[in-house]
Order: sequence, then C-alpha cells, then structure tokens
Amino acid sequence: MSGAEFFPLLRREPDIESPELVAVDATDRLLLDEAAAPLALCGRGEVAVVDDAYGALTLGAVALHGASDVRVSQDLLVGERALARNAERTGLTGTYRSLPLAEVAAGARVVLVQAPKALDGLREIAERIAAVAAPDVTVLLGGRVKHMTHAMNDVLRDSFGDVSATLARQKSRVLVARLPQPAPSSFPRRQEHPDLGLTVCAHGAAFAGTKIDIGTRTLAGVLDRAAPGAGTALDLGSGTGVLAILLARARPGLEVVASDQSAAAVASAAATAEANGLADRIRVVRDDAADSVADASVDLVVCNPPFHVGAAVVTTAADRLFAAAARVLRPGGELWTVYNSALRYKPVLGRVVGRTRLAEQTPKFTVTVSTRR
Ligand SMILES: C[S@@+](CC[C@H](N)C(=O)[O-])C[C@H]1O[C@@H](n2cnc3c(N)ncnc32)[C@H](O)[C@@H]1O
Repeated sequence: MSGAEFFPLLRREPDIESPELVAVDATDRLLLDEAAAPLALCGRGEVAVVDDAYGALTLGAVALHGASDVRVSQDLLVGERALARNAERTGLTGTYRSLPLAEVAAGARVVLVQAPKALDGLREIAERIAAVAAPDVTVLLGGRVKHMTHAMNDVLRDSFGDVSATLARQKSRVLVARLPQPAPSSFPRRQEHPDLGLTVCAHGAAFAGTKIDIGTRTLAGVLDRAAPGAGTALDLGSGTGVLAILLARARPGLEVVASDQSAAAVASAAATAEANGLADRIRVVRDDAADSVADASVDLVVCNPPFHVGAAVVTTAADRLFAAAARVLRPGGELWTVYNSALRYKPVLGRVVGRTRLAEQTPKFTVTVSTRR
C-alpha cells in the first residue's frame, strides 16, 4: 500500500476534528520517508515511536515499511486512543504495543519521534532512548521548521555522539541522532519553593516544569475562599499537581483527585504528592477531561486550563475542560478557574457551568468562580 492510499484512512478522533486540523502532517510523511532505509533493516520489535500524534508513524511503519511489533509511547491519552481507533479502522490492531517512555526504546534500532514543544520534553526523550536503545540505533526526530531551534541539536548532542540535520521538505525537517551515550535520566527534576512551602517534581513534558506558573500562583492565592465546606475536590488538568497539593495540605478532611491526560503530568503529580508527604491524600489519574470521574460527584473543581492545541491558539481545549467541570460538579458545587485576562471565558463559563463571578483580577490573570446550576 502507498502513503497516498493509507494516510487518508486515518482520523484524529476522539480528538477535536475540523477541516484545518489533520491526522497526518508533513512531518509524519517526511519521517517515514527518511526512515525507509533503516526501517528495512529492522527485525520484529526493533522499531519504536515516541509522541505519535494520531498513529500515522506507528501504523505507517507497519503498513508502508513492514515493521512488526512496534513499540510506542505517547504523552497524550487522546493520541493513544486515536492510534487505537486508527489501528482498528485499518485492520492493524495488535501490530504495536503502548509502553511508558522509559521502556519504549529498549533494544530499538530505529526510533521515530515527533518533536515535543518543550526542550525539557526533548531532553527526557533523548535520555530515555539513549539509556536503553541498541548501540546502532538511528533516532529520527521530526518537526515543523518554524518550531525547530539549534538548542534541539544541542539537547540531542548531550545524549548522542552524532547528530545531523536533513534537508527541509514542505516546512518540516528531520534531525538524525546516532551513537547513544547511555546515562541515568535527569528526570523527574525537583525544585523547592520555600515561598509556598512545597517541592515540585517534574518530568520533561510537564507544563511549567518544576516552576510554578504565574496563573497557577494567582489561583493558589485565593484557594482558601473556594467552596469552604467541600468534601471532594478535583484538580482538572493537574500538571505537576501544585493546586492539588495546596488543597490537600490546607484541608485535612478533603478528598483530592488530580487528573491529567499527559503521562508526564500524572507521573510528575504522583512524584510531587510523594515529595510533599501527601501521596495518601491525593489520587492521581490519567484520563481525558476527567472521564474517569463520576457525574455530579465533586464539590470543588480547580482548573488552570490550556489554551493551545498544537501551535494554534484556540479555546476548544479549555471549553472541553469547562464542560467536564460542569459534568462532574454536583449542583451548587464550584469551579475555580484562572485564565489570561485577554481571554473572554466568563460568558462561556456562565453558559456551560452556571452563574460566574470574578474572584480576582490582575492585569494578566483573571480568576472566576462558577457555581454549578
Ligand atoms: C495550563 S496547564 C496547568 C497545569 C497545572 N494545573 C498548573 O496549574 O500548573 C493545563 C494542563 O491541562 C492538561 N490537559 C489539557 N487538556 C486536557 C484534557 N483533555 N484532559 C485532561 N487534562 C488535560 C494539560 O496536560 C496540562 O497539564
């Protein structure tokens, strides 16, 4: 089968679908083309994929290059689910296995990577691959030219002896890394925050790393006013779990769940809870828009929502979390959310959740409280 026949079969769902958002991009195509020669030399279980968006790399390696028992690690749960659905749609279920990042490249001779946005995300990927891949591994890292910087080559050079770039095609480029230099990973990283009296642990792809975002701080500053009698709370899109930690610590009787769809986030939140002696107080779950949390079961939701999908700034990702908050809150429960003051979320929150008022406003950030109708 050719790429021209195969790629149109793939979809993004359950992620947002719209005409300008694609399931296969120019970087996926370039990566698969550049990998053709090394893929042809691979045996069963010798191909690994990292951060495949919707399955084009994993399923493309199988359908177009004859790879078998491909191992794949995807930070985002929606990507994992889209891959599974695309595999079903194309009759390729069972041709790959999903594994954690630390294990995905064990013994691999070719690794295909969609470049993550954050340099620390790339650093952890490079470290984890170099630690376990075959000595003759070829790592191909692809991205949009406008998002690729020289710093990425430098990060790869910290874990590989040989790094080179291929020619760009359709605004995408591939970096090729060889000669892995195995070393213990520097993740998760840890940072003390004496001003808030907590330690934050972060894997490479976690939002804000071990720092605490200013928006998060703004929301943290007013949390003592949130739903005073609450028995259950959800940190929706928890990242490293800072808000969950602050809630659990301030309210000894509160049952706290931290949920995120990113594997790096949930591993970070679990490590952060442990580092602050609160592992037994916070249940950390990886799900999409809190879909493992029952309807009308929560008294308080705190949320610092994302407003980026890939490189485009859209509100749809935040809207999904607001709808999730509305679903899991019991009537009368409260959603406390923080967002950039330039964003007009208040009417949306009023419509989706219930009566919404300002709780705090700085020139940069707005905190609102919405009471579930
Ligand atoms: C702006 S960050 C905030 C992280 C953390 N609450 C903080 O304040 O530092 C948004 C988080 O939402 C998560 N997220 C985005 N979409 C999600 C979804 N559909 N389901 C679960 N988590 C999601 C992201 O992975 C990210 O960790």
